[in-house]
Amino acid sequence: MMKSIAHESAHLHVTGEATFADDIPQLAGTLFIALFISEKAHAKIEAIDFSAVEASAGVVSIITAYDIVGANDCGPIIQDDPILSADEVNYIGQPIFAVVADSYLNARKAVKKAHVTYHELEAVFDLDEADKRQSYVLPPMLLKKGNTQQVFNESDLQLEGRFKVGGQEHFYLEGQVAYAVPQEDGCLHLWCSTQHPTEMQHLVARCCGLDAGQVVVEMRRMGGGFGGKESQSALFCCLASIAAQKLNRPVKCRLDRDDDMLITGKRHHFNYDYRVAFNDTGKIKALQLKMLLGCGYSADLSGPVATRALCHVDNAYSLQQVDLSAIFCKTNTQSNTAFRGFGGPQGAFATEFIIDNIARLTGIDALDVRKNNFYGKTENNVTPYGQIVDDNVIHELVDELEISSDYRARREAIRIFNQTSTVIKKGLALTPVKFGISFNVVHFNQAGALIHIYTDGSVRVNHGGTEMGQGLHTKVAQIVANELGISTNFVRATATDTSKVANTSATAASTGSDLNGKAAQDAARQIKNRLIDFLAEKYAVEKTAIIFINDEVRINQQTLAFRDVIQQAYESRIQLWSDGFYKTPGLHWDKDKLSGSPFYYYAYGASVSEVAIDTLTGEFRLLRADLLHDAGNSINYGIDIGQIEGAFIQGMGWLTTEQLVWNDEGRLMTHAPSTYKIPAVSDCPPVLNVKLFENKNVKDTVMRSKAVGEPPLLLGFSVFFAIRDAISSVSNYKINPPLNAPATAEEILNAVDYCNGFSDD
Ligand code: MTE
Ligand code: HPA
Ligand code: MOS
Repeated sequence: MMKSIAHESAHLHVTGEATFADDIPQLAGTLFIALFISEKAHAKIEAIDFSAVEASAGVVSIITAYDIVGANDCGPIIQDDPILSADEVNYIGQPIFAVVADSYLNARKAVKKAHVTYHELEAVFDLDEADKRQSYVLPPMLLKKGNTQQVFNESDLQLEGRFKVGGQEHFYLEGQVAYAVPQEDGCLHLWCSTQHPTEMQHLVARCCGLDAGQVVVEMRRMGGGFGGKESQSALFCCLASIAAQKLNRPVKCRLDRDDDMLITGKRHHFNYDYRVAFNDTGKIKALQLKMLLGCGYSADLSGPVATRALCHVDNAYSLQQVDLSAIFCKTNTQSNTAFRGFGGPQGAFATEFIIDNIARLTGIDALDVRKNNFYGKTENNVTPYGQIVDDNVIHELVDELEISSDYRARREAIRIFNQTSTVIKKGLALTPVKFGISFNVVHFNQAGALIHIYTDGSVRVNHGGTEMGQGLHTKVAQIVANELGISTNFVRATATDTSKVANTSATAASTGSDLNGKAAQDAARQIKNRLIDFLAEKYAVEKTAIIFINDEVRINQQTLAFRDVIQQAYESRIQLWSDGFYKTPGLHWDKDKLSGSPFYYYAYGASVSEVAIDTLTGEFRLLRADLLHDAGNSINYGIDIGQIEGAFIQGMGWLTTEQLVWNDEGRLMTHAPSTYKIPAVSDCPPVLNVKLFENKNVKDTVMRSKAVGEPPLLLGFSVFFAIRDAISSVSNYKINPPLNAPATAEEILNAVDYCNGFSDD
């Protein structure tokens, strides 16, 4: 394990000096955008009265769909995402036109003065209703293995049911923002907050009728992305660019929080219908699962999200006979998108919920039912999509956590507590995680880097990944420093820039450090090899006698400062910069059959949560959580622990308090922190034990580390199932609480009431 160094921007974050897109000093003449968004969920636009807008102070221009010289679309995969609606609107919040004014305030004041006449059309909000009407954004996906029907015909122990999980607002602290500046000869330079600079470059080029080579996208850091800036930064990048191009002025598009929440998509909410057959140890023999995805009005990334959901229904369990489907429901709401875990959490949640039900029916502790279903090490290790799980550590990881968290004794103590505590009930749950690492689109698994060493020995590294707080730049700097045997103080990671490293993938799927770390290592290694060749010749020594360590280069008995070596090499005209490239080996995926080996490896983890619920108010408290997570051979302990804690709390928020509510007209009512409840510091448990599981990656990843960004979000499951355990205690653990996620106070109270109806006393 490498040492835990501070995030490269920590000192800038805490002093407020870190430059985000909106902090870049504005050029004279900069203009500002405000968006007019649809007030109807589904309607034809009959007329727009702009007169009061045009007369409003400071207004310079109004941009409508007809001002777009290229394609009026910013869809990442298929073109069903208009930048501005020309004639039809599909959700409340859809942008219809943009006002460009001399100040942000003037633009916002002006946009409110427009009057739009709509002809309303019938709207669909409910997923079952959308399914019934066959209102879909994409054709269904099916993943089958074995013959489930035969098992059902022969099995006594069966269960079927329905449940739901809600969506989730990203709630990045920095909202969506883009600043477009026209350059000479029709070119554009764009500063924006995005996980995907290359896609922004291409979509801006497409809507502005430019070549990609005429657009440069630069991105130093985001104040959080969480998937919400993987594709959906595009709308704002395109709008700023369209206006900048039309007016030949710098234009900024920065969203107000409420507009951000009304316009952009969220995590997909899911409805599940299942049927399961199992034996008396709770082992699943067959599973049929139909998942309705709430996609919203357009496809966006729903296809790959569903693929990942289907590939994570198994979670850590060997499911031999499955019949899984994903149905892409189209509704008149925001277009849902990537969110930490990218469908994986929704897929795995289904099986965890079903196992939780099976445990209560068989009367076996849920942990033992889980263990009875785990993938084997050498047998029962083929996933429903055909990949062999050859790096399984879930058995030893869960065993370690079971002991360190004192699971069995606490289970007993809670049972006793609940016998005498009438209002407050406690619950406990241990849930495992197995998460596949790699993009499920094979060609996205590539990265590039560019390293410069200056003659004083200092280093700048540029790579295709973006920094969103997850510490990618810190890790890449560590990798480069380690390769060159120098201190990280000499290595600076610089803003992601499409003119330095081209054709980059989104920083997503947790692959940022796996891909860009390897590419940067490759670049550093090339320079180092040139230096070794140069030194071996100059000092007439074997190449193997040259070692780069502690800011020095050892050449047999002689030691030179790294910077002196660099100066010598420069004077001898050795190239001191290099590019680097990496592509993940061994991946294959048939997207039509949904089979292959889409993941380079798996990351594992498990968590134990203990909660208390108030059976009169429905409130809950997380009392203690123990997390054990596999980050491989961690590159940066402190950053990895931070990712694990943050993901766990974010996962908990998703499944408990973060409720999205749309009213009957389809208006999102929870569009501000006043109504949308993310976890606060006070929601963190008083006892939080977080540990890395000692485990080097068996695959040749950078320093044998493992991706850590998304997998620990699934650790939050244990909070939900601990709540469910506490609720079921009122029925003496006989009844499966009908608890949907998020487990809001209202949900908890209803489930308690239901279970009370079955209590023994
Ligand atoms: N951590 C912070 N602080 N902020 C973020 O926006 N995004 C998450 C995760 N951790 C995020 C984060 C998501 S969705 C992903 S895919 C990964 O970081 C992306 O970065 P990585 O691949 O470098 O881990
Ligand atoms: N995660 C995030 N983004 C993606 C993925 C994924 O698995 N596949 C395609 N885009
Ligand atoms: Mo993360 S959802 O892959 O951006």
